[in-house]
Amino acid sequence: MVNLNKQNHHAIIEQSKAFCPSNIALAKYWGKQHIELNIPTNPSLSISLNQLGTEAKISQAENDQLLINSKKIPQKSVIYQRVFNWIRKTLGNQRPKLSISTTSNIPIAAGLASSASAFAAITVALNSFLGLNLDLKYQSAMARLGSASAARSIYSGFVSLVPQTINKQTTCFAEPIDIVWKELRLAIILVNDKQKAISSTQGMQYTKKTSPLFKSWQTFAKASFKQILTAITTKNFTQMGELSEHNAFTMHATMLAANPPLIYIQPESLAIIQQVQQIRKLGNEVYCTIDAGPNVKLLYQAKDKNTIKIHFPKAQIIQPF
Ligand code: PMV
Repeated sequence: MVNLNKQNHHAIIEQSKAFCPSNIALAKYWGKQHIELNIPTNPSLSISLNQLGTEAKISQAENDQLLINSKKIPQKSVIYQRVFNWIRKTLGNQRPKLSISTTSNIPIAAGLASSASAFAAITVALNSFLGLNLDLKYQSAMARLGSASAARSIYSGFVSLVPQTINKQTTCFAEPIDIVWKELRLAIILVNDKQKAISSTQGMQYTKKTSPLFKSWQTFAKASFKQILTAITTKNFTQMGELSEHNAFTMHATMLAANPPLIYIQPESLAIIQQVQQIRKLGNEVYCTIDAGPNVKLLYQAKDKNTIKIHFPKAQIIQPF
């Protein structure tokens, strides 16, 4: 918990604002080793989405309130409880009442990491609003308590998130990977922007409990993380694409082996995945990845931009660097 001493309170300013990008994992995390501390079982690695993400505004209020995309969220709702329970866990009860307002330019909770950018942006805004002076590692760890992938949204570019033991305590915070890859592009193919029926936390617990593939996934995910990291640091696009795609489908296979199966991929998603395989057969290097939702994300290089335009005219294109 953060120590909110008197000095901190003096630092309160009228309003503070912060923007954090959303991120897409190339080496995915699926499974928690510690629920209360929200520590993943396996390392993960992501790419931040540059201008796509969430802006958080914090100001003092008479009563706690949460606004998402200008809409006031009822106190009883799951999301309100999630945000203010996280704030209680990290800041305790000796804090001023807060008005938190987030505005995202990505669909909420459709496997597009909107909660990641929201928890990260709220953390950064709280840090300056309350004058906490937390370093980025600590901000990342604080964001993780809200949503583990939010730990990665503190940074832009490639980011790793590795559980580790420090002074006999397990912890986890993200670290940026110092690689700039100008030619890299991502495209989001929106299948459905409805909220997912099963949250990732529920999905992870349920997969861990019932999928006979879960143990193998853990072993695979650790090795795959290292391989993807090497592909990135050596800027080997083919390897990065192939490994990321394999990582995503191994995660989905593990979910599919849960009993009853946990299915995030929809028929439209599958059609896009098969279209990507066809495009590759024609000699264009395009790879896909998919998270806890039906939307498909493509990885390609700037030289293939026309191919993407022709096959996916409605795709949202992201230039991460
Ligand atoms: O951080 P959460 O609880 O939103 O879970 C993220 C899970 C995946 O998006 C599927 C993978 C990842 O590492 O981002």
